[in-house]
Parts: sequence; C-alpha cells; structure tokens
Amino acid sequence: MEATPSPDILSAELRQSLSRRFENIVVFSGAGLSADSGIPTFRSGENGLWSEFNPADLATPDAWKANKALVWGWYEWRRGLILKAQPNPGHLAIAQLQSTLNANAITQNVDDLHERAGVRDVLHLHGSMFEPRCAICGLSHSFAQSPPDAPLREITPPQCPSCKGAVRPGVVWFGEQLSRAVMGRAERMIAACDLLLVVGTSGVVYPAAGLVAHAPRTATAVEINPAATQQSGRTDYVVRMSASQALPAVVGLLTQHG
Ligand code: OAD
Repeated sequence: MEATPSPDILSAELRQSLSRRFENIVVFSGAGLSADSGIPTFRSGENGLWSEFNPADLATPDAWKANKALVWGWYEWRRGLILKAQPNPGHLAIAQLQSTLNANAITQNVDDLHERAGVRDVLHLHGSMFEPRCAICGLSHSFAQSPPDAPLREITPPQCPSCKGAVRPGVVWFGEQLSRAVMGRAERMIAACDLLLVVGTSGVVYPAAGLVAHAPRTATAVEINPAATQQSGRTDYVVRMSASQALPAVVGLLTQHG
C-alpha cells in the first residue's frame, strides 16, 4: 500500500493558507480526477477522447439521430472502461473530506467513482453513464448486457418497454441544456463556499466552467491540475500535480482541524 502524500509536497504559502478551519468546502471536478483510475480525459493531449473521436459524431442530438447504434455502442464501451476502473486516492480523499468536514462534491464526470469511493450527494452536472433513459418518454432503464471492449462497435440501443422508443445514455450532450435544478444547486453551493478546490478540469465547457466565477471573493480557490487551464488565473493557488497525489495531501492538512 502506498503512503499518503505528505502535506510537505504543497507550497509553504498554500499550507499556510489551508491551515485554518473551513466551514463550506466544495470540490468541483472534471475528467482529470478519474485519469489516474485509467479513464481517459477528453482533452489531455494525444490520449484525450476528443483527439481520437469527434464529439459531433458521438455526443450530440444530431449524432443520435444519425446513428443510434454507433452512439449507444460508444457509450457502452465507455461504461465498460468505468466498470473496470477503481476509485483512486483523489476520490477517496474527497470522501474523507466529506465525512470529516461535510464537503460538497460537484462534478462534470459521468462515471460513478465518487460514489464508489463513498462520496454522497454528488452533483453530476453532465448526467451519469449509469442512468440511461428512454429518449422519447424519459422512463429510466437498467442495463441488461455487459459492455463491449471495442470503442466503435455499433450496438442497437434497448427499446423502452413502455413507449417502444430507443433508450439513450443518461448524459448531457453538446447542444443540450443542463438540468436547471442541478445547476442552480451548484451555483448556490459555490456562492456559499469558503474553500473551492477545482480539480482536473480544462475549464472550457460552459456553463459548468462558469461556476468558478460564482465563488465569493473572500473564498480561497485552489486549482489542482498538472497543466495550466483557462481557470488557472481565477484561483488563488495552483497545484501542478495529479489529483491522486495532491488531494490526499490537501485533505490531510484540512482535516487536521476537523
Ligand atoms: P478535459 O478532458 O477537458 O480536461 C481534463 C483536465 O484534467 C485537463 O486540464 C488535464 O490537464 C487534467 N488532468 C489530466 N490528468 C490529470 C490528473 N491525473 N489529475 C488532475 N488533473 C488531470 O475534461 P473536463 O474539463 O472534465 O462534457 O471536460 C469537460 C466536459 O467536456 C466533460 O464533462 C465532457 C467533455 O466534452 C460532456 O460530455 C457534456
């Protein structure tokens, strides 16, 4: 078993800033949080999903209209990757932060690794891979088949038992609206926070990326990401490390005061 990274890996300035008690902590995450679990991100260089696949062919209402089996097959492949993956120390650190300091988690991720790490009430801005529903009547559906290993195997989506419509992935596609209720809760949570951890997101997809701007000026905002992003200038601190390394160190510091 690997040792928990020591807070000493963080800068002295950040350690100083985090060495007080915070009352309303929010962790806002993106695909980079699950990267160390082996789930590809969308935009990290050559390994990003969007360098291999075209979102317009796979993640839009038009793509669904054009070829439902291609879209369903691709999401089934991604479901398979997630099922094989395990939560990493970053997810586990968020669970610890929640159980000791009541932190809230908001994510753009459609995987279930927060939940499997023990994080409760996760706000999934972009939906969930595990909540498919009828594209016509909205009836929830559960998976009957195991997912494939190949990324572009066409698979006919299941049929809704109620209205005979096609079942679609429970995610938000480009060109679709995010749930207003979920966005509203996320905005209120961030507007009330005193510490915001922005973890593993490129911060280019709106409206989710705009959430960081809702943090009060008095709040401390920290970006955890090995690369610079469009959000870097908006946070007080940047930690250029992976989430699985930095989050346990940050949480170790914060929970000293729990
Ligand atoms: P992106 O793929 O755009 O960005 C991933 C970020 O994670 C990058 O900034 C990387 O530098 C960073 N990263 C990579 N490895 C990391 C690690 N080990 N630890 C921490 N950070 C790491 O993913 P998102 O910002 O989540 O939308 O993308 C936003 C949305 O775009 C997604 O929710 C999805 C996508 O299209 C929909 O599906 C609607």
